[in-house]
Amino acid sequence: MVGMALKTFKNVFSRTAPFLLNQTTDSQIPVGLMTLTSRRCINNPADVQHQEEHPVVLITGSQGQLGTGLARMLRARYGKNNVIMSDIVKRREPKHNSGHYVYADILDFNNLQEIVVNYNVDWIIHFSALLSAVGEQNVSLAMRVNIEGLHNMLELSRQYGIKLFVPSTIGAFGPDSPRNPTPDITIQRPRTIYGVSKVHAELLGEYFNHRFGLDFRSLRFPGVISYDSLPGGGTTDYAVAVFHEAMRTGRYQCYLRPDTMLPMMYIDDCLRSVVEFMEVPNQDLRMRTYNVQAMSFTPAELFEEIKLYIPKLEITYKPDERQKIADSWPMRFDDSRARAEWGWSHRYDLKALVKVMFEGLTSKFQAEKQASRASRYAL
Ligand SMILES: NC(=O)c1ccc[n+]([C@@H]2O[C@H](COP(=O)([O-])OP(=O)(O)OC[C@H]3O[C@@H](n4cnc5c(N)ncnc54)[C@H](O)[C@@H]3O)[C@@H](O)[C@H]2O)c1
Repeated sequence: MVGMALKTFKNVFSRTAPFLLNQTTDSQIPVGLMTLTSRRCINNPADVQHQEEHPVVLITGSQGQLGTGLARMLRARYGKNNVIMSDIVKRREPKHNSGHYVYADILDFNNLQEIVVNYNVDWIIHFSALLSAVGEQNVSLAMRVNIEGLHNMLELSRQYGIKLFVPSTIGAFGPDSPRNPTPDITIQRPRTIYGVSKVHAELLGEYFNHRFGLDFRSLRFPGVISYDSLPGGGTTDYAVAVFHEAMRTGRYQCYLRPDTMLPMMYIDDCLRSVVEFMEVPNQDLRMRTYNVQAMSFTPAELFEEIKLYIPKLEITYKPDERQKIADSWPMRFDDSRARAEWGWSHRYDLKALVKVMFEGLTSKFQAEKQASRASRYAL
């Protein structure tokens, strides 16, 4: 009986202690506390069955290229109701086979607090961001979303004792960094607001870990390639767009030079890296931010591989402002520390990537065709 009571106390204390302890050490906390209100009705937080062995995970920006797939992977692992997807846009996936989905603007701290409290969140996967090309077109919005938003995530995670994952990128390096290969720790002087905001996130996250014990984790992803969701305005988008154009029109105009080598990764490897990295015990990590990659290729190399499937593919090149960004990024990541220290290993190389993209897009296009035929008959 006493044992049980102690266990319950320990559980409750481990959840509330970071919050209570922090309260006395920082003047920002009472402000957060005062604004803790119950303004919005969130859909059924009571459904979240908090099991000690499974974390409750909140994903921000979950309607982007990476979020939907990660939610699927985490739901299969931790249970449908333990993963809360969020964004400022409506959900894309069908409601019937998905779990919780809530509105969360990462610039609205009160809204975030409410979600964390109502769902008893343990982990945050912070995906909301403006990517490199989009960020250059709207620097002030990129500063708000990528920097102010990140501040909210750090503060929130510190107050509530949450484990926080924030992805970084090849874009966190710049023309002064060694480019082939780029090690984990080296000069980082990026020339895009996206890159600057990611270096800021890496450094602040490491500082919060060192200063407050926040369990902050970050992986630097290369360009991520997927067939079921479109990329969100990055410099590596060509490596997804070419598959769509090749299959629909047999032609593609590339905005990078044929010899522009960049690190890349298939989405399944990328999402698996997040899950595996998040499950490493805190004390086993020697760093907070690691490079991960799978392959490096140029547009010319990718197109040659695609031509094995579509021999008549016509390619033209018209480099635009994204070329400058790509020229300042790593050509190859040195991810040996991730491999040695927590067992990172990729499964998809260039050949496997092109194969899975063709298989995936073929069934996607067939399903779209069938759906449009069915809706035509229904009229
Ligand atoms: N996709 C890649 O190739 C790649 C590579 C390296 C790193 N990353 C990082 O991974 C993360 C996810 O990338 P992605 O490709 O899914 O991005 P994406 O652009 O596809 O999606 C970003 C999401 O953020 C949401 N968002 C924008 N403003 C918001 C706000 N104020 N509040 C809440 N949500 C908001 C958008 O609605 C969108 O759904 C980003 O942090 C990105 O920097 C991605």
